[in-house]
Amino acid sequence: MSRNLVIYYSRKGQNYVAGELKDLEKGNTELVAEYIQAAVGADLFEIETVEEYPADYMKCTEVARQEQRDNARPKLKEYLRDIDDYDNIVIAGPCWWGTYPCAVFAQLEKLNFRGKNVFPVMTHEGSGEAKSRSDLKKFCTGAKVGKALAVQGALVPKSEEAVAKWAMKNLK
Ligand SMILES: Cc1cc2nc3c(=O)[nH]c(=O)nc-3n(C[C@H](O)[C@H](O)[C@H](O)COP(=O)(O)O)c2cc1C
Repeated sequence: MSRNLVIYYSRKGQNYVAGELKDLEKGNTELVAEYIQAAVGADLFEIETVEEYPADYMKCTEVARQEQRDNARPKLKEYLRDIDDYDNIVIAGPCWWGTYPCAVFAQLEKLNFRGKNVFPVMTHEGSGEAKSRSDLKKFCTGAKVGKALAVQGALVPKSEEAVAKWAMKNLK
């Protein structure tokens, strides 16, 4: 049986859900990571920044935009040291301005992906998988990057079956 790991970033707090601002107790991507774990078995590693992003949605979009312009690498509370124990690594995150938050890249740059299977998972509000797959090809040198899964944030609560289906097909 394959050994699966989900590395994810997910932001709690105010978010846009189908055109409305809502306060989320649990981020969309975190829910998707849990669906994958329930479907096929996986360890979860949550990327958390030392300095939290603003809970206010609009402010957060500004901070994220600037980070992307600066190609920033925010400091993380904890870094995963290696992925030696795993065959399949899912990289799950929200779409922030067309790709993963810079915090995700801050972790990916510390890992050796040679010989691993990597799967992009992106939650979004319209951009779909965006640049998730092409960016993982850049950041996960030597990995085989599989099919991406894109889930619209607003639909996450109703998407457990679709996520499980994708996981069972891809994380074998
Ligand atoms: C800073 C920021 C930037 C975003 N940029 C995009 C975007 O470019 N395209 C898109 O479809 N959704 C965008 N969104 C919406 C999120 O991708 C979406 O709500 C996602 O499901 C949030 O996941 P999370 O709850 O796990 O953090 C953005 C949200 C934030 C907070």
